[in-house]
Amino acid sequence: MPKALVTGITGQDGSYLAELLLAKGYQVHGMIRKASTFNTERIEHIYQDPHDPAARLFLHYGDLANAEQLTNLIYNVRPDEIYHLGALSHVKVSFDIPEYTGDVTGLGTTRILDAVRRSGVKARFYQASSSEMFGSAPPPQSETTTFQPRSPYAIAKVYSYWMAVNYRQAYGVFATNGILFNHESPRRGETFVTRKVTRAVARIRAGMQKKVFLGNLESKRDWGYAPEYVEAMWSMLQRDAADDFVLGTGESHSVRELVEEAFGYAGLDWHDHVEIDQGYFRKFVRPNEIFFLLNFSDAGQLAGDLIEDRR
Ligand code: NAP
Ligand code: GDD
Repeated sequence: MPKALVTGITGQDGSYLAELLLAKGYQVHGMIRKASTFNTERIEHIYQDPHDPAARLFLHYGDLANAEQLTNLIYNVRPDEIYHLGALSHVKVSFDIPEYTGDVTGLGTTRILDAVRRSGVKARFYQASSSEMFGSAPPPQSETTTFQPRSPYAIAKVYSYWMAVNYRQAYGVFATNGILFNHESPRRGETFVTRKVTRAVARIRAGMQKKVFLGNLESKRDWGYAPEYVEAMWSMLQRDAADDFVLGTGESHSVRELVEEAFGYAGLDWHDHVEIDQGYFRKFVRPNEIFFLLNFSDAGQLAGDLIEDRR
């Protein structure tokens, strides 16, 4: 029976992937964080009592910030495949806690890769890389596009990407990067824009709230469907050799289109319910644009003042 270790098993992708692996006959080991509230809602339907001799899903406490636990887990489980999906995955939040993002989303990957190397376990490794790494590189982006990350999250992911490549080249670890564009589902975290909008539409329709506050309606995303994307993750680890792959739909839509579609579907006019809150704009959207113009004029003014002084 093949064995898989999944970090981030309580997340959107982790829960779909665990379902898929169980259906394929794997024994699945998931790492979960200790929280004061239940964080296993997405995997409750596949939970199995570990006392049951037929159980194939096992959960272990651990944290990506803790190398010792990761090393023990890999050494004890000796997985055939590791799907590293755990991360602080919210781009906006990564601006608020950049150091933590670097530790968990960046260094967490190195901790796993190095545990694989040192343990000698011949596990195939999947790194959950992201289209966010392309940042300001002009679309359409592909495997050959140079990364131009624009958030602490994206920068941590670029570091992880290169660590996976490095462990592949330096130590022969079967380390594959899946660079995935956005993918959504009913299990998407409720602070990401698709669930935030659809949840708000349902609550507004039910009379439970009147407004929803959103950020940049003009930004565009290539949105796919999460259950299909986890199948691709599995396929990437079944290949003869490790490599780097980009996965998207090739179609992109604006947040405004999403809002129009979702409110329209419920028979609501979004203009009556959506308000813009600048706080939800990404840092690189606002200060970078304004900063550049301010700097330019400041620099011009400063140069003029200096010339005046010298005269
Ligand atoms: P998600 O729903 O936010 O799930 C993240 C998972 O990571 C959760 O299980 C979370 O545990 C866990 N986690 C966070 N911090 C941790 C820590 N310090 N130690 C251990 N576990 C920790 O993310 P997702 O949408 O499923 O995405 C899966 C992966 O793919 C992420 O790495 C994400 O960055 C990447 N990715 C996602 C997309 C997308 O569109 N969904 C696209 C490209 C790449 P808790 O449940 O306890 O919070
Ligand atoms: N979250 C959020 N909340 N986003 C908003 C809002 C809002 O109120 N209003 C507008 N947006 C815009 C964001 O500015 C962004 O351009 C777009 O909606 C999508 O935002 P998110 O759903 O938060 O996703 P993301 O694209 O930033 O990041 C997701 O996809 C990445 C892959 O490209 C995450 O899943 C990342 O982990 C993943 O790597």
